[in-house]
Amino acid sequence: MRSAMRRTHLLEQLGPEAVGQQLTLTGWVHRLRNLGGLIFLELRDRGGTLQVQVTPQSACFAAAETLHAEAIVAVSGTLQLRPEKQRKPGLGRFELLAEQLELLAESKPLPFPLDDQGVNEELRLSYRFLDLRRPAMQAALRLRHQVFAALYRLLDQRGFLSVETPLLTKSTPEGARDFLVPSRLQPGQFYALPQSPQLFKQLLMMSGVDKYFQLARCFRDEDLRADRQPDFTQLDLEMSFVEQEDVISLVEELVRALFQEVLGADLPRPFPRLRYQEAALRYGSDKPDLRFGLEIQQLGSWAPELPGLPGEGPLSLLAAPPLSRKQLDQLAETARRFGFSQLPWSRLEAGVLSGGIATALEAAGFRPPELPKATLLFLRGQQAGAAFGALRLALRDLLSLLEGAPRFAPCWVTDFPLMEWSGEENRYVSMHHPFTAPNPEDLPLLERGDLGGVRALAYDLVLNGYEVGGGSVRIHRMELQRKIFSLLGLGPEQVEAKFGFFLRALEFGAPPHGGVALGIDRLVMLMAGASSIRDVIAFPKNNRGADPLVDAPGAVEAAQLAELGLRLA
Ligand code: AMO
Repeated sequence: MRSAMRRTHLLEQLGPEAVGQQLTLTGWVHRLRNLGGLIFLELRDRGGTLQVQVTPQSACFAAAETLHAEAIVAVSGTLQLRPEKQRKPGLGRFELLAEQLELLAESKPLPFPLDDQGVNEELRLSYRFLDLRRPAMQAALRLRHQVFAALYRLLDQRGFLSVETPLLTKSTPEGARDFLVPSRLQPGQFYALPQSPQLFKQLLMMSGVDKYFQLARCFRDEDLRADRQPDFTQLDLEMSFVEQEDVISLVEELVRALFQEVLGADLPRPFPRLRYQEAALRYGSDKPDLRFGLEIQQLGSWAPELPGLPGEGPLSLLAAPPLSRKQLDQLAETARRFGFSQLPWSRLEAGVLSGGIATALEAAGFRPPELPKATLLFLRGQQAGAAFGALRLALRDLLSLLEGAPRFAPCWVTDFPLMEWSGEENRYVSMHHPFTAPNPEDLPLLERGDLGGVRALAYDLVLNGYEVGGGSVRIHRMELQRKIFSLLGLGPEQVEAKFGFFLRALEFGAPPHGGVALGIDRLVMLMAGASSIRDVIAFPKNNRGADPLVDAPGAVEAAQLAELGLRLA
């Protein structure tokens, strides 16, 4: 049956000019209060809620009496301004005096209340269609849409063409496992879902597209975390005839415009830059959270043996605000994850050391930093940097160091090593991907085979301690690309099988080019102030890579397998 009542407005369209008018609104019964003589119904649509007053004189009073929460209704009446005194936060300035009401759909009682923050996530994901009714989720969807819309417009204005690239394709090496899709037409053969459109965007540069972008779905079969999903979205872009500086400044300007337009937030100009080595030394991380200080200090040549820190070699120090024993114990737990059985410490007040390893420090002639009051933490060895990196973040949370901090602290991390040694694979592997150009200054090192020392023309965009983007200048000459493949331990057959098409394309000439990909889910998560990318994705997977709503992944029929020429082991 078709409803006789047609909506005149969404709640987000109501303004002062609608006051006194006869309106028809639709939505969900968010809350219901029956005061006997008077019914207050809170109507909700995607724009928020509006109070609807149903008086006993109204023709729809009887209908309103039978309503339940989350029923879907159409209601018409006159919009009025709420008396100043009666305005409650969240309910807005207007209310509707109901005259007519139609029930469009009823709802079973919900499995969880929509206004409760503490609902188990698995339950929320199982009923994602209900979970998405929550105003915070609606706001996240809207924010995400605004980001997409702004990016399209901003990039279009700057001459970028959006081009789609295939989802059923061949493996691209971004360092994760591929999701494979069996081919029915060629039994025993598989497509791979793209880990990124990397090779296609480079081919587009060879095709003369010059400036490409895509809001691209990417697929990676890796262990999941709060900032990782098996399918996720990148703003992927690539530019021809550019150098590293051109890409960095374009992206920086784009991100600044995006934050300004969507959030009204001013990002620093320019974004600070850190070289990879410097980020490691000062922050113990290649994605430092720069919203707070607390830098690691290197103690250089002063390297005595200290209790709890066996071995020799350079010591490093983190001068934290004064810490309690309990806090020190919690931090020692973090250090343990990096193989440190202890986290040696000492208190410092007005130049005087006390507690922990104070005596040993004094005996070794330690010159304390000039700080009024601190707890000093010491580590040494290979893992000291990474451990201090984690301790910085633990301290941030433990001591609420973000109070009064800037909301957004972006930075670039540059000069990544081109390759790193993989003990597991017993070979050098690309730190980004094998199409990344080496820094020309380091080509002699490459010639000499000093692979660990070669820097890449690669850069990451970091925001609030998250890697939100990564990119590089690419190799555009075939001989160098072949050489890199071989240094990565790929034999000629392997290269031909995996990248033959790409090398053949390079034979026809490629313009110098470079680009970047921004993790849109992470970016929107940070813009929304959320702590998991699942909160800004409409239908995400849980931390086991499953979608409990549709129950994916799931078993398939034997006939489907047979058709694909597959049998389960
Ligand atoms: P990279 O692998 O660094 O680069 O990916 C770019 C950005 O994508 C985001 N990201 C993810 N977000 C959510 N879930 C995941 N599993 C996930 N993996 C990555 C991160 C990351 O910074 N082709 C290159 C880019 C280039 O060189 O132009 C690439 O994909 O925010």
